[in-house]
Amino acid sequence: MAEAAWTPEEGLDAARAAFRAAFSTEPDEVWASPGRVNLIGEHTDYNGGLCLPIALPHRTYVAASRRDDDQVRMTTTLADADSRPEQWTGTLSDIRPGGVEGWAAYAAGPAWSLRNAGIAVPGTDLAIASCVPLGAGLSSSAALECATGLAFSSLAGTPLDGDDAQRAQLAELCVEAENEVAGAPTGGMDQAASLRTRAGHALLLDCLDGSIRQVPLDLEHAGLRLLVIDTRASHSLTDGQYGERRSACEAAAAQLGVVTLREVNDLDSALARLDDEVARRRVRHVVTEIQRVLDVVAGAEADDWPTVGGLMNASHVSLRDDYEVSCIELDVAVEAAVGAGALGARMTGGGFGGSAIALVRTDDVDRVADAVLSAATSHDLVEPEVHVVAPAGPGQRFA
Ligand code: GLA
Repeated sequence: MAEAAWTPEEGLDAARAAFRAAFSTEPDEVWASPGRVNLIGEHTDYNGGLCLPIALPHRTYVAASRRDDDQVRMTTTLADADSRPEQWTGTLSDIRPGGVEGWAAYAAGPAWSLRNAGIAVPGTDLAIASCVPLGAGLSSSAALECATGLAFSSLAGTPLDGDDAQRAQLAELCVEAENEVAGAPTGGMDQAASLRTRAGHALLLDCLDGSIRQVPLDLEHAGLRLLVIDTRASHSLTDGQYGERRSACEAAAAQLGVVTLREVNDLDSALARLDDEVARRRVRHVVTEIQRVLDVVAGAEADDWPTVGGLMNASHVSLRDDYEVSCIELDVAVEAAVGAGALGARMTGGGFGGSAIALVRTDDVDRVADAVLSAATSHDLVEPEVHVVAPAGPGQRFA
């Protein structure tokens, strides 16, 4: 099994230590926001669809202090735990589309979108420390944006951590920052998962109107565990494939005369009206996946876990064959998990690498994890890291 997520105390210590090392003083505040895994509803968010993420216990911690000028100084230990911390220094007006690159664009971006929204973000010193695995499809980027977004809004005197309306506003601003400043054309699921989830619950997010429902998810009580299998196959959302899928959906929606694919009620007649075979497969994935989210919620509420598992398997097949965003590492992990007795397994997140999840009876955890590791070895793949996770809480202030 992979190393456990940091406890809040460990995260606080790491962020404070990074702040002291960089700025020789104590921070005013420490905030943290989690990564996520999506139970089901993949590539539906930018189609106005439904998804069902949970927050991970893995968080990105940000220690921050207000400055009296317009300087922003950031330091991170995230790049690589063994390498020297990286620094970024600039002014508030340097933080804009095209003005910041790499990790710093994700970290600083929310200062730009908050300022655009009329929130007076001040000059800031901040230090970042994180235990969210990087490039694993577990939303390390959203965890980072949401943690700095919380800190920037708080230092501005208007912390957006109160009710769900405030959290939804901050989630939107973080999406805008990711799209415009970091240049990644992602939908809104990850930021909502990082800011609007509740511990012990999955978040049923309706991406058409932004509404949510907290779905209780006590897997342990049901004698189950959720495994997150980080294949460690590289994953990037800025390499064009993700944007290509998104454009294909938008083009299909335009051809069908709807604003988003959420509005497709009659799948067969929609498919008959599309002249391109690839477009038909993309649409079929999105429309069937949205229905699977509803079916998983109904299954979970009825304690019908075999049905939930079957829907996860169907989601994987659809993502692999119709949406074509899986890869050998994910397929091998999913097949091995199901072969070793998982109730269901599927890739999660954007795909093209990253992580899979498996729903497993508590007694089968070790057997399934071992099967996943040996399947990777026998296919000459990098050994995955397996985490056992339960739904954790959203971003919040820790000190
Ligand atoms: C990435 C994006 C999300 C979502 C998923 C696929 O995680 O950041 O917005 O589109 O892929 O469901």
